[in-house]
Amino acid sequence: MISEQELAELSFADAPRIITEGVPGPKGTELLAEAPEFESMTRGGGGFPLVFDEGRGVTVKDPDENLYIDVSAGVGVSSVGRSHPRVLETIARQSQKLMHASDISNTRRAELARKLAAIAPPGLRDNCISYFAQSGSGALESAIKFARRVTGRNQIVAFHGAYHGVWGASNAITTGDQYRRGYGPFMGGVIHAPYPYAYRFPLPLGDKSCEEICGDYVDYLLNTPYTAADDVAAVIVEPVQGEGGYVPPAPEFFLKVKAACEQHGALFVADEVQAGAGRTGKMWAIEHAGVEPDMITFGKGMGGDLPMAGVIMRKELAQQLDDMSQPQTFAANALSAAVTLTNIDIIQEGELVARAAQVGREALEKLQVASKNLPIIGEVRGRGLMIGIELVMDRETREPADQETMMKVVMGLLANGVIMVPCGRNGNVLRLMPSLTITRDYLNKAVDILLQVLDNV
Ligand SMILES: Cc1ncc(COP(=O)(O)O)c(C=O)c1O
Repeated sequence: MISEQELAELSFADAPRIITEGVPGPKGTELLAEAPEFESMTRGGGGFPLVFDEGRGVTVKDPDENLYIDVSAGVGVSSVGRSHPRVLETIARQSQKLMHASDISNTRRAELARKLAAIAPPGLRDNCISYFAQSGSGALESAIKFARRVTGRNQIVAFHGAYHGVWGASNAITTGDQYRRGYGPFMGGVIHAPYPYAYRFPLPLGDKSCEEICGDYVDYLLNTPYTAADDVAAVIVEPVQGEGGYVPPAPEFFLKVKAACEQHGALFVADEVQAGAGRTGKMWAIEHAGVEPDMITFGKGMGGDLPMAGVIMRKELAQQLDDMSQPQTFAANALSAAVTLTNIDIIQEGELVARAAQVGREALEKLQVASKNLPIIGEVRGRGLMIGIELVMDRETREPADQETMMKVVMGLLANGVIMVPCGRNGNVLRLMPSLTITRDYLNKAVDILLQVLDNV
């Protein structure tokens, strides 16, 4: 396993270092003020009060030379850290040879498709075909089309709290008023079922677990005349819900959903865009459940600093799709494919997946212990380096922390040199999702600063 010393060399050494009087500093403030004049604020990071200028490993510099520890990793994208020297070498080498081939075969994408077949989760491993896209939304759009095409069925089951993208079909299965209001009508045939989010489950559990109830409900849905049992093409599920609040259900839920899919002829699609690429302590988060998916979607952390996404599906499904029926101009661009291959090599050679499980467990335990004395923390949960810290106004009632409190926390973190991005249905979950290359030292520093900020808010 890669040593702490080798990992330390990938980042700036002296983070956090805040040298301006407040954050953002004067240059950052000016750029943030100017942004809405030239750029649509519909973008995800539109409300985040920081401007990035330089990134190295798990550290980021703003235009005022303040230096931060970034435990959000570009929402899980920079899995091996920003500007890893081997990635830079690959970019230098590959950009001299070939960058764009417009969805025509290129040597790098061929190599990548072979590699993905070898590292796909059980059920797909060495029995799968990859389809490439440039974003998670594009991957989900394609997965939905493919599922409908191969099953000849119409309906898709997704879950409350799900985030799968913001295009047409992917927006239809994404929940959240923020992404939907005024953008409808959406693709029909979508049914949303409850996700096992035990901390905020709206119904009494009785003597059953949340996972059992939600799993049984999917079985019911696939088997009721209201849904039409023979018309559900796929159940699409995040193995750990990401934007919905970092919710990691126990295996039982996925086992029940898979059994229902098998019984009623629907495909089981695991959306690994946020949880995949080693983040949860397995290469694919669905592996924690021991379930064999029919398809997975990937994105974010697979390509690292360059865009790479796609669908990995069982060979027999892919063989039913019509040739040239789903082209994408920039898919598996040779440069992105080369960087993705290097990214996977770095993850495998450094044993970063096993390391994510280890250091993630250490951080989770530390946060859970500390949370006992911090009433603002309602729950700490997670898997590997995908940890959610849910903040509340009141621990008894579980009233979610309001936006003013969340802003105070985010600003308090930035003022102390830590970047953390909230998520969750109420925007009240802080996510600890650093690059897999974060040193224990930087991880501990970030957690200590977080605890201090939460103590003072
Ligand atoms: C689980 C999941 N699926 C799909 C997407 C969409 O990915 P993209 O933003 O690359 O379109 C996201 C993005 O956060 C995601 O978390």
